[in-house]
Amino acid sequence: MSYHLDAIAPHGGELVNRVATPAQKETFLSKADFLPRVTLDERAVSDLEMIAIGGFSPLTGFMNQEDYDRTVAEMRLANGVVWSIPITLSVTEEVAAPLQVGGVVRLDNPNGEFIGVLELSEKYTYDKKREAINVYRTDDAKHPGVQVVYNQGSVNLAGDIWLLQRDSHPHFPSYQIDPAASRQMFRDKGWKTIVGFQTRNPIHRAHEYIQKCALETVDGLFLHPLVGATKEDDIAADVRMRCYEILMEHYYPIDRVILAINPAAMRYAGPREAIFHALVRKNYGCTHFIVGRDHAGVGDYYGTYDAQYIFDEFAPGELGIVPMMFEHAFYCKRTKQMATTKTSPSKPEERVHLSGTKVREMLRRGELPPPEFSRPEVAAELARAMSIPTVLA
Ligand code: ADX
Repeated sequence: MSYHLDAIAPHGGELVNRVATPAQKETFLSKADFLPRVTLDERAVSDLEMIAIGGFSPLTGFMNQEDYDRTVAEMRLANGVVWSIPITLSVTEEVAAPLQVGGVVRLDNPNGEFIGVLELSEKYTYDKKREAINVYRTDDAKHPGVQVVYNQGSVNLAGDIWLLQRDSHPHFPSYQIDPAASRQMFRDKGWKTIVGFQTRNPIHRAHEYIQKCALETVDGLFLHPLVGATKEDDIAADVRMRCYEILMEHYYPIDRVILAINPAAMRYAGPREAIFHALVRKNYGCTHFIVGRDHAGVGDYYGTYDAQYIFDEFAPGELGIVPMMFEHAFYCKRTKQMATTKTSPSKPEERVHLSGTKVREMLRRGELPPPEFSRPEVAAELARAMSIPTVLA
């Protein structure tokens, strides 16, 4: 398929499609009982899906050693294309040992269902600490992304994959819009510039502000919350989706916004994940991507704007997608509107800043976050979801 009518080409030039045809699926199913098996965890299932639908274009499978090494060292695939996060299938030595390079491996989900195959081209060991330091900028085992690396197997299985079939999402089928479909929607709407927005939180007013500032200068907003694996204390995806729907209903121009789920897992890799998030949205057809304060950060591992500075390490054409950077936004009591220090003369005590953590604490105490921070309908939905009797703060 040609993408010359699209606002932007997929990363690497072609949108990958590794969803098996019905005939391929039949062949794989007929061999199901004879193939060696690897059981994927939730994150690997997400990665398999993302590769298959083209969200991780140009990747066609789990990374081989050459791609992995250059990604970790230089944020590039072996062929030089920018790529910042390793996409690997890591298993224990016991699981890896009997698998034959050159053979086909059956990939099961955690329920033991056959969902894909791996054409095993290579098995290799890797240095976990090096991956942690280069990708996550820390070797602290308490970092949620580093923890995953430390807990996973020490052998990476590489090779092209096939997803047996594209099932509709069990919880959000109407928001499952894969890259080929989002590109079609953008074409149908005649949008030439589209800004993508990543989030793993309910949308608060600072998010809304930066999205709408961006939307003032582009044709459409692609609201793309991540619904793959997140850490325990992040707010569950179903609650967040209800909050997004509420916002769309009351506060957003529906003909300018498309809400869709991003099935990927969160890495919490801060700056490197910001690049990765941008490339994934490029594959969905976005020409622009929002990067605000501490994008994809966790705790105090990254500086507030590190995820913006990292874009300077690439020539603009190498990424293709254009980052739209925003400073830390707050409600300004002096001007009575959302602002940043770029647009408001306020003193620090005139600014309402609330973090996701603080909001969760407030909700637990039975207080609703104030309207300067969260739209009241969203605050009420959060309180309801946490089954907390609330009083207005
Ligand atoms: S993230 O892990 O998905 O980045 P979150 O959902 O909180 O976390 O952020 C979504 C996007 O909004 C990111 O680009 C982030 O930098 C930006 N953002 C979050 N809060 C603010 C804020 N107060 N001011 C400016 N940008 C923000």
